[in-house]
Amino acid sequence: MLNVNRSQDLRLIGRSHAIREIEREIDCAARSDAKVLITGETGVGKEVVSRLIHRHSARASAPLVTLNCAGLPDSLLESELFGHVRGSFTGAYRDKPGLLEMAPNGTVFLDEVGEMSPRMQVVLLRFLETGEIQRVGADRSHTHVNVRLITATNRDLEKEIAEGRFREDLYFRLNVIRFAIPPLRERIDDIPLLIGYFLQMYCHLHGVPTVDVAPEAMDALASYRWPGNIRELKNVVERVVVKSSGGTVQHADLPFDVVRSAAVRPSASPAASDPEQPQRTSQAEQLAELMLKHGESFWAVVHPLFMARDLTRADLRRIVQIGLECTNGNYRMLVERFSMPTEDYKRFLSFLRKHDCHLPFQRFRAVPAKYRPESEPSPLRKVVNP
Ligand SMILES: Nc1ncnc2c1ncn2[C@@H]1O[C@H](COP(=O)(O)OP(=O)(O)OP(=O)(O)O)[C@@H](O)[C@H]1O
Ligand SMILES: [Mg+2]
Repeated sequence: MLNVNRSQDLRLIGRSHAIREIEREIDCAARSDAKVLITGETGVGKEVVSRLIHRHSARASAPLVTLNCAGLPDSLLESELFGHVRGSFTGAYRDKPGLLEMAPNGTVFLDEVGEMSPRMQVVLLRFLETGEIQRVGADRSHTHVNVRLITATNRDLEKEIAEGRFREDLYFRLNVIRFAIPPLRERIDDIPLLIGYFLQMYCHLHGVPTVDVAPEAMDALASYRWPGNIRELKNVVERVVVKSSGGTVQHADLPFDVVRSAAVRPSASPAASDPEQPQRTSQAEQLAELMLKHGESFWAVVHPLFMARDLTRADLRRIVQIGLECTNGNYRMLVERFSMPTEDYKRFLSFLRKHDCHLPFQRFRAVPAKYRPESEPSPLRKVVNP
């Protein structure tokens, strides 16, 4: 529930555009005292980001105190945050400071802030407005504190506000600097790097000789949806390491969930998690068909739509995926098939990288025939023969 200054294991691994942006934003956030709100699915690294902001800030030598608001009854949460006075409730035998007082000149990280009850939201708002600490059971404020507040949630707070579960005034107070960490399936470039990093870490930890991953197994790992994001990936790697005695991890060594999902889904298209997938997918497929079948150029039919935000990154990745499936993972051939001049190869790749839409080519070399069920038509065939 509460922990102070855990400093081990503090690295943001990844080379995707998203991770590089987050690193830049961490440096920027660390230079100020502004409140930070971090959003993202479970396990994407919200706590890591909060700890890095603190570590790089001028407050680094003061404590960073973390409190998870989920599952705590109001009375306990309020007492953890603000402290209590003796006799204020059964079991309150002495005065106790809250964690806001335990981090003078430091940082307080409130995790799962979206879970706070309406009453606690009012209490937090009052504190943010006055900076005053009033311990539970006290009839006046006890002291002022200087802390920097970082909050995180995996809820969609805008939706929570619309549905009357989260106060808009509190949201505006918390949402000064915003980090929206994308799920792992939207930055699959990071997967091999994270796997390599955790393999090394767990081999060292469990005294297992070096382990590497066979290409087929890596393809399955890259194709998996990772609903638990990096936390799940870390656990899978640890399980694999513990079961192995060194050597190469094969496809058969992977957990059943990962293998089954990769078999059902031939690739980790982010569009697959998009509620608008059918419409989006067909738009992406139509554009791919325009290029592959009718000789239209990528720069003429896809680029302008994407720049005008009429196409999402998921759409663009889907288009690239279709192209790579046709060219067996060959980007040079893809440039040709998308009717671009050969000399546009570098420009095209850097465009994809800049927008985090560069898919690793490896899985288009080994995977499809093996993992795509017989009955499932190829994505392009669906367009040609609907
Ligand atoms: N980019 C990254 N590089 C290395 N490790 C990471 C990265 N992102 C997350 N992790 C690791 O993944 C695990 C989950 O990260 P973290 O606890 O920060 O996620 P979270 O978003 O706070 O999750 P939750 O919403 O469930 O609280 C941690 O062990 C963390 O060290
Ligand atoms: Mg967390």
